[in-house]
Amino acid sequence: MKVLVTGGLGFIGSHTVVELQNKGYDVVIIDNLSNSSAEVINGIVKITGKMPIFVNLDLRNKQHVDGFFNQHKDIEGVIHFAASKAVGESVKDPLLYYENNITTLVYILQQLTELKRKNFIFSSSCTVYGQADKLPITEDAPIKLAESPYGNTKQIGEEVIKDTCCAYKDLNAIALRYFNPIGAHPSTEIGELPIGVPQNLVPYITQTAIGLREQLSVFGDDYPTSDGTCVRDYIHVVDVAKAHVIALERLMENKTVSNFEVFNLGTGKGSTVLEVINSFEKVSGQKLNYKIVARREGDVTAAYANTTHANDVLGWKTELSLDDAMASAWNWEKKIRG
Ligand code: UD1
Repeated sequence: MKVLVTGGLGFIGSHTVVELQNKGYDVVIIDNLSNSSAEVINGIVKITGKMPIFVNLDLRNKQHVDGFFNQHKDIEGVIHFAASKAVGESVKDPLLYYENNITTLVYILQQLTELKRKNFIFSSSCTVYGQADKLPITEDAPIKLAESPYGNTKQIGEEVIKDTCCAYKDLNAIALRYFNPIGAHPSTEIGELPIGVPQNLVPYITQTAIGLREQLSVFGDDYPTSDGTCVRDYIHVVDVAKAHVIALERLMENKTVSNFEVFNLGTGKGSTVLEVINSFEKVSGQKLNYKIVARREGDVTAAYANTTHANDVLGWKTELSLDDAMASAWNWEKKIRG
């Protein structure tokens, strides 16, 4: 069974390729290496013993996208990770984000509808909920006005798929709304490779601990939470990757109740920034240099998932803990820079 993974050399994409190959799928990766490295393939091969097909292709080129699908007529499912994801960059260059995240989605869906291929999985984000009124967040929580062009591309992306599924009943799609994926593969063969200064908490923590950054700034300790720092639902990337395989099987086995379904991917447990730091210090045996600074613009106070729908309907739940994730992130950091 051949599966296309766009953005398959990125953080979540590469972990998903591993889980797919471990389950016997033949994987074709499309990646333009804009935020990833071709060396990730070596890590995938070391873990799975299997070489995926890799096509270096820019999905913004419609001719190339059409040509690709014409050459690979036996693709049975598409998992679409390829997208830009830096909030600040999206504010400075919104058109880049609409082109990378929306135009490419349209080109892929055009091919799937033309060729009557059915199975499609989309990387969405809990960012669509903004600051939810009720916690934990269920999938039917209202979508809030996007805080950034990046967030807007995830909302629009879901709308594009929903409308397409309405018009083309053959198309069968699932959007997975990720909370905060962190960690690395336990083999330490693949992990997160942020380019430049990381914007996200966990790579900033590990890069500070390894000596690449001087100090972590904790953005605000005056939020209405247990210790004043923001609450997020940090989920091990391997758990996130496994959810994609389960979602794909749900599509392939025609188990869906609607041809556009949405699931939260979270642990259901919220952790404050200080709890994440504590977990890091516990599993690494190392003190972290951090200071409390002002709030970061655009941060919500708290977001964590209600996982009932994913647990009961998708039949998936997380197996790994925050400590597991922090230990794997640290082992990965030590391996690549130690
Ligand atoms: C961020 C994005 C979100 C995107 C997600 C995926 C923002 C405001 N949100 O989510 O749209 O979907 O990444 O990549 O950028 N923190 C610190 N110090 C740091 C970094 C983070 O204290 O140096 C805190 C933040 O204030 C937040 C928590 O750590 O409370 C998690 O931050 P981050 O990893 O950036 O994730 P999100 O803000 O949830």
